[in-house]
Amino acid sequence: MSSVLRVEGGHPLSGTITVRGAKNFVPKAMVASLLGSQPSRLDNVPLIRDVDVVSDLLGAHGVQVSFDQAAGSMTLDPRNVQRARRSDIDALGGASRIPILFCGPLLHQLGEAFIPELGGCNIGGRPIDFHLETLRKFGANVEKREDGVHITKPSGGLHGAIVELPFPSVGATEQTLLTAVRAEGSTTLRGAAVEPEIMDLINVLQKMGAIISVDTDRTIRIEGVDSLTGYTHRALPDRIEAASWGAAALATHGDITVLGAHQPDMTTFLNIFRKVGGAFDIDEDGIRFFHPGGDLKPAALETAVHPGFMTDWQQPLVVALTQAKGLSIVHETVYEKRFGFTKALVKMGANIQLYRECLGATPCRFGQRNFFHSAVISGPTPLMAADIEVPDLRGGFSHLIAALAAKGTSTVSGVDVISRGYEHFLSKLGQLDARVAYVDGATSR
Ligand code: UD1
Repeated sequence: MSSVLRVEGGHPLSGTITVRGAKNFVPKAMVASLLGSQPSRLDNVPLIRDVDVVSDLLGAHGVQVSFDQAAGSMTLDPRNVQRARRSDIDALGGASRIPILFCGPLLHQLGEAFIPELGGCNIGGRPIDFHLETLRKFGANVEKREDGVHITKPSGGLHGAIVELPFPSVGATEQTLLTAVRAEGSTTLRGAAVEPEIMDLINVLQKMGAIISVDTDRTIRIEGVDSLTGYTHRALPDRIEAASWGAAALATHGDITVLGAHQPDMTTFLNIFRKVGGAFDIDEDGIRFFHPGGDLKPAALETAVHPGFMTDWQQPLVVALTQAKGLSIVHETVYEKRFGFTKALVKMGANIQLYRECLGATPCRFGQRNFFHSAVISGPTPLMAADIEVPDLRGGFSHLIAALAAKGTSTVSGVDVISRGYEHFLSKLGQLDARVAYVDGATSR
């Protein structure tokens, strides 16, 4: 099936769609099931490629995964965990970054783990040094070889550690949690990320029998236990997908109700959305995002770790900011190369300048280091249709929004990557009256 989409833009997106469990949580909860002695059940599981990849990788390690896709209910039985074939690990590792989180659970269960060349979005170097350093602190032997990283458990087992992260990395926080819960003794993690998805992973681990406390100063303490059981849990909703549809409503002058969107995880996004002139109504079923008419206003914002403005919200919102009257400034402080997607927007008529300087109140790690990590967006500029190519997951969704907002018919190629994180995005576009179809003639799905 072709992955080139023809998009007839210039029509408001309007209607109701549903978001299910968070892409940045569900695969990690699936990995957590590996630590248990009993089966687990996860509900609200979306049908996205990262879930497929982790299911396959768990299956390759002997976990029996069954997934009722319509109900979004998954069971994971880890009672026959075994070594996976290298060919399976190699084949699946390149499709996502989640395989790195298998390390702690596999060290506990099998005594060894292997990290192949990892996939994920190309939005910066995406090193794994924090992960490897953390595993070493627990006593693991970490050996980098040409084919990947080989990790083994010491004869005395993994022991608790004091871990201090140089940056509140989501992945490294999860690595620490998934390793510490069954290590001998207690672990203190300082400089932890405290994203809602991490809090939900802690909920899952607590259900399994772990002892974890979170202090107000980004310190997480874990008391290791000998064994964990399974869990039954409903995944928190995807706040990135919800915000992406909100930004799409704003950029296309539309009106989208996102069932499942959860206000408490989106406070920072909603504040900015309102400041730039977007409107929303919140009820217990979800959030209705709409363009209330009038000019959109510019904004100055910095991406940051939670509770700041999430880096994954940045790209969809920038499309809407091209329609705001005045100068907007976005300082990206989480990834050094997350403005690659703006090239296509400029091609479509947007006025966006990138800067190496930190254009924000907080000097970040990327200042003085030659990374174009600040953007100035001058609007409003009408967007014109173009032939564009999807660069990565979130940038790709932004391209789609831009094409939907632009006058004329665009072609957007490489859209398959969007299914890594947006469940049924084509059928949702259909529900919102978008005029999209594959260039090979297939209609939206
Ligand atoms: C997760 C999310 C991603 C989100 C990001 C930040 C998933 C699957 N992905 O990615 O959507 O944008 O958090 O909220 O949950 N770093 C290092 N060394 C390391 C690890 C990270 O230098 O070993 C750096 C990264 O290059 C980046 C920063 O730390 O600059 C944050 O990365 P991290 O929080 O670890 O992102 P992920 O967990 O990969």
